[in-house]
Amino acid sequence: MKKLYIIANWKSNKTTKDAKQWLEEISFTNTQDKEVILCPSFTLLFFLKDEIVRKNLPIKLGAQNISSFGEGAFTGEVNEKQLKELCEYVIIGHSERRTNQKEINEELKGKVEKANEVGLKVIFCVQSENNFVPKGVEIVAYEPINAIGTGNPDTPENAEKVAKTYKNNFQNIIYGGSVNKDNVNSFTQLPDINGVLVGGASLDAKTFGQIIQNA
Ligand code: PGA
Repeated sequence: MKKLYIIANWKSNKTTKDAKQWLEEISFTNTQDKEVILCPSFTLLFFLKDEIVRKNLPIKLGAQNISSFGEGAFTGEVNEKQLKELCEYVIIGHSERRTNQKEINEELKGKVEKANEVGLKVIFCVQSENNFVPKGVEIVAYEPINAIGTGNPDTPENAEKVAKTYKNNFQNIIYGGSVNKDNVNSFTQLPDINGVLVGGASLDAKTFGQIIQNA
Protein backbone atom coordinates (compact mmCIF):
# COMPACT_ATOMS: atom_id res chain seq x y z
CA MET A 1 0.00 0.00 0.00
CA LYS A 2 1.24 3.51 -0.76
CA LYS A 3 2.00 5.86 2.09
CA LEU A 4 -0.47 8.71 2.64
CA TYR A 5 0.14 12.09 4.24
CA ILE A 6 -2.92 13.47 5.98
CA ILE A 7 -2.09 17.06 6.88
CA ALA A 8 -4.13 19.51 8.95
CA ASN A 9 -3.53 23.20 8.29
CA TRP A 10 -5.18 25.09 11.14
CA LYS A 11 -4.18 28.46 9.63
CA SER A 12 -4.72 31.33 12.12
CA ASN A 13 -7.17 29.46 14.35
CA LYS A 14 -7.30 28.08 17.90
CA THR A 15 -6.06 29.07 21.33
CA THR A 16 -4.25 26.65 23.63
CA LYS A 17 -7.58 25.79 25.25
CA ASP A 18 -9.10 24.94 21.84
CA ALA A 19 -6.07 22.83 20.90
CA LYS A 20 -6.32 20.91 24.17
CA GLN A 21 -9.94 20.09 23.47
CA TRP A 22 -9.15 18.98 19.88
CA LEU A 23 -6.55 16.56 21.24
CA GLU A 24 -9.11 15.16 23.65
CA GLU A 25 -11.61 14.57 20.84
CA ILE A 26 -9.40 13.27 18.03
CA SER A 27 -9.47 9.55 17.38
CA PHE A 28 -7.31 7.42 15.14
CA THR A 29 -8.75 4.52 13.21
CA ASN A 30 -7.44 2.91 10.05
CA THR A 31 -4.09 4.68 10.31
CA GLN A 32 -1.90 2.05 8.68
CA ASP A 33 0.55 3.62 6.20
CA LYS A 34 -0.77 7.08 7.06
CA GLU A 35 1.33 9.92 8.43
CA VAL A 36 -0.79 12.48 10.25
CA ILE A 37 0.78 15.94 10.37
CA LEU A 38 -0.70 18.85 12.30
CA CYS A 39 0.31 22.39 11.32
CA PRO A 40 -0.89 24.89 13.95
CA SER A 41 0.14 28.48 14.64
CA PHE A 42 3.64 28.97 16.09
CA THR A 43 2.12 29.79 19.48
CA LEU A 44 0.72 26.26 19.83
CA LEU A 45 3.72 24.21 18.76
CA PHE A 46 5.38 23.95 22.18
CA PHE A 47 2.18 22.95 23.95
CA LEU A 48 1.19 20.43 21.27
CA LYS A 49 4.64 18.85 21.19
CA ASP A 50 4.47 18.24 24.94
CA GLU A 51 0.96 16.80 24.77
CA ILE A 52 1.73 14.53 21.80
CA VAL A 53 4.70 13.03 23.66
CA ARG A 54 2.81 12.75 26.95
CA LYS A 55 -0.19 11.02 25.33
CA ASN A 56 1.92 9.11 22.82
CA LEU A 57 -0.26 10.27 19.90
CA PRO A 58 0.51 9.33 16.26
CA ILE A 59 0.82 12.95 15.16
CA LYS A 60 3.80 14.77 13.65
CA LEU A 61 3.99 18.55 13.87
CA GLY A 62 4.59 21.10 11.16
CA ALA A 63 4.86 24.91 11.08
CA GLN A 64 2.94 27.08 8.62
CA ASN A 65 5.86 29.34 7.77
CA ILE A 66 9.61 29.84 8.27
CA SER A 67 11.86 32.88 8.05
CA SER A 68 14.10 33.16 4.99
CA PHE A 69 16.56 35.30 7.01
CA GLY A 70 17.87 32.86 9.60
CA GLU A 71 18.95 33.86 13.08
CA GLY A 72 19.47 37.51 13.98
CA ALA A 73 17.93 40.98 14.06
CA PHE A 74 14.70 40.17 12.22
CA THR A 75 11.80 41.26 14.39
CA GLY A 76 8.75 39.07 14.21
CA GLU A 77 10.44 36.24 12.31
CA VAL A 78 10.80 32.62 13.44
CA ASN A 79 13.96 30.88 12.24
CA GLU A 80 14.80 27.33 11.21
CA LYS A 81 16.69 26.40 14.39
CA GLN A 82 13.76 27.47 16.56
CA LEU A 83 11.36 25.41 14.45
CA LYS A 84 13.58 22.36 14.37
CA GLU A 85 13.26 22.16 18.17
CA LEU A 86 9.49 21.87 17.87
CA CYS A 87 8.50 20.22 14.60
CA GLU A 88 9.52 18.01 11.70
CA TYR A 89 7.74 19.71 8.80
CA VAL A 90 7.08 23.20 7.47
CA ILE A 91 4.55 24.48 4.93
CA ILE A 92 6.09 26.89 2.40
CA GLY A 93 4.39 28.77 -0.42
CA HIS A 94 0.75 28.56 0.66
CA SER A 95 -1.38 30.67 -1.70
CA GLU A 96 -2.65 32.76 1.23
CA ARG A 97 0.92 33.84 1.99
CA ARG A 98 1.72 34.39 -1.68
CA THR A 99 -1.32 36.68 -1.87
CA ASN A 100 -1.37 38.40 1.54
CA GLN A 101 2.36 38.58 2.30
CA LYS A 102 3.38 38.88 -1.38
CA GLU A 103 5.81 35.97 -1.08
CA ILE A 104 7.57 35.40 -4.39
CA ASN A 105 9.63 32.54 -5.83
CA GLU A 106 13.00 33.95 -4.76
CA GLU A 107 11.90 34.27 -1.13
CA LEU A 108 10.24 30.84 -1.17
CA LYS A 109 13.45 29.33 -2.47
CA GLY A 110 15.33 30.96 0.44
CA LYS A 111 12.83 29.52 2.90
CA VAL A 112 13.27 26.01 1.47
CA GLU A 113 17.05 26.40 1.78
CA LYS A 114 16.74 27.41 5.44
CA ALA A 115 14.47 24.44 6.16
CA ASN A 116 16.91 22.11 4.40
CA GLU A 117 19.85 23.43 6.48
CA VAL A 118 18.38 21.92 9.63
CA GLY A 119 16.53 18.95 8.10
CA LEU A 120 12.99 20.29 8.35
CA LYS A 121 10.86 18.52 5.73
CA VAL A 122 9.16 20.92 3.33
CA ILE A 123 5.51 20.76 2.24
CA PHE A 124 5.58 23.12 -0.75
CA CYS A 125 2.26 24.46 -2.07
CA VAL A 126 1.64 25.02 -5.76
CA GLN A 127 -1.48 26.44 -7.33
CA SER A 128 -1.29 24.96 -10.81
CA GLU A 129 0.64 22.51 -12.91
CA ASN A 130 3.38 24.92 -13.89
CA ASN A 131 4.52 26.53 -10.65
CA PHE A 132 8.21 26.77 -9.81
CA VAL A 133 9.22 24.27 -7.11
CA PRO A 134 12.69 24.64 -5.56
CA LYS A 135 15.01 21.69 -4.93
CA GLY A 136 14.82 20.15 -1.48
CA VAL A 137 11.06 19.74 -1.23
CA GLU A 138 9.67 16.58 0.39
CA ILE A 139 5.97 16.97 -0.44
CA VAL A 140 4.35 19.04 -3.21
CA ALA A 141 0.82 20.11 -2.29
CA TYR A 142 -1.36 21.01 -5.27
CA GLU A 143 -3.98 23.49 -4.07
CA PRO A 144 -5.88 25.37 -6.81
CA ILE A 145 -6.86 28.78 -5.40
CA ASN A 146 -10.54 28.57 -6.31
CA ALA A 147 -10.84 25.27 -4.39
CA ILE A 148 -9.51 26.67 -1.10
CA GLY A 149 -12.19 27.28 1.49
CA THR A 150 -14.95 27.36 -1.12
CA GLY A 151 -16.52 23.91 -0.83
CA ASN A 152 -15.65 23.47 -4.50
CA PRO A 153 -12.82 20.96 -4.77
CA ASP A 154 -10.97 20.30 -8.00
CA THR A 155 -12.09 17.20 -9.87
CA PRO A 156 -10.10 14.08 -9.07
CA GLU A 157 -9.35 13.77 -12.81
CA ASN A 158 -7.72 17.19 -12.94
CA ALA A 159 -5.89 16.68 -9.62
CA GLU A 160 -4.43 13.45 -10.99
CA LYS A 161 -3.39 15.18 -14.20
CA VAL A 162 -1.57 17.94 -12.28
CA ALA A 163 -0.01 15.46 -9.85
CA LYS A 164 1.39 13.51 -12.77
CA THR A 165 3.27 16.55 -14.07
CA TYR A 166 5.08 16.98 -10.73
CA LYS A 167 5.62 13.28 -10.22
CA ASN A 168 8.53 13.31 -12.69
CA ASN A 169 10.60 15.34 -10.24
CA PHE A 170 9.03 14.79 -6.82
CA GLN A 171 8.02 11.64 -5.02
CA ASN A 172 5.11 12.85 -2.91
CA ILE A 173 2.26 14.87 -4.38
CA ILE A 174 -0.80 15.66 -2.28
CA TYR A 175 -4.05 17.49 -3.01
CA GLY A 176 -5.61 20.35 -1.00
CA GLY A 177 -8.75 22.49 -1.39
CA SER A 178 -12.15 21.76 0.18
CA VAL A 179 -11.21 18.23 1.18
CA ASN A 180 -13.79 16.68 3.52
CA LYS A 181 -14.66 13.29 4.96
CA ASP A 182 -16.86 12.42 1.97
CA ASN A 183 -14.50 13.35 -0.86
CA VAL A 184 -11.10 12.51 0.68
CA ASN A 185 -10.97 9.02 -0.75
CA SER A 186 -11.70 10.20 -4.28
CA PHE A 187 -8.30 11.95 -4.09
CA THR A 188 -6.25 9.53 -2.00
CA GLN A 189 -7.18 6.60 -4.24
CA LEU A 190 -5.63 8.29 -7.29
CA PRO A 191 -2.40 6.65 -8.45
CA ASP A 192 -0.22 9.79 -8.27
CA ILE A 193 -1.69 11.39 -5.13
CA ASN A 194 -0.18 10.56 -1.75
CA GLY A 195 -2.42 12.41 0.61
CA VAL A 196 -4.32 15.59 1.38
CA LEU A 197 -3.83 19.01 2.94
CA VAL A 198 -6.94 19.93 4.89
CA GLY A 199 -7.86 23.43 6.10
CA GLY A 200 -11.40 24.10 7.32
CA ALA A 201 -12.35 20.46 7.85
CA SER A 202 -9.35 19.87 10.11
CA LEU A 203 -10.56 22.31 12.76
CA ASP A 204 -13.14 19.91 14.12
CA ALA A 205 -11.41 16.89 15.69
CA LYS A 206 -14.19 14.42 14.94
CA THR A 207 -14.37 15.45 11.29
CA PHE A 208 -10.61 15.27 10.92
CA GLY A 209 -10.62 11.83 12.57
CA GLN A 210 -13.12 10.70 9.93
CA ILE A 211 -10.95 12.14 7.17
CA ILE A 212 -8.01 10.07 8.46
CA GLN A 213 -10.24 7.01 8.62
CA ASN A 214 -11.75 7.45 5.13
CA ALA A 215 -8.52 8.39 3.35
P1 PGA B 1 -9.54 24.21 2.84
O1 PGA B 1 -8.04 24.77 2.88
O2 PGA B 1 -9.44 22.73 3.17
O3 PGA B 1 -10.25 24.98 3.90
O4 PGA B 1 -10.06 24.42 1.48
C1 PGA B 1 -6.96 24.04 2.39
C2 PGA B 1 -5.68 24.82 2.52
O5 PGA B 1 -5.69 26.04 2.30
O6 PGA B 1 -4.62 24.27 2.86
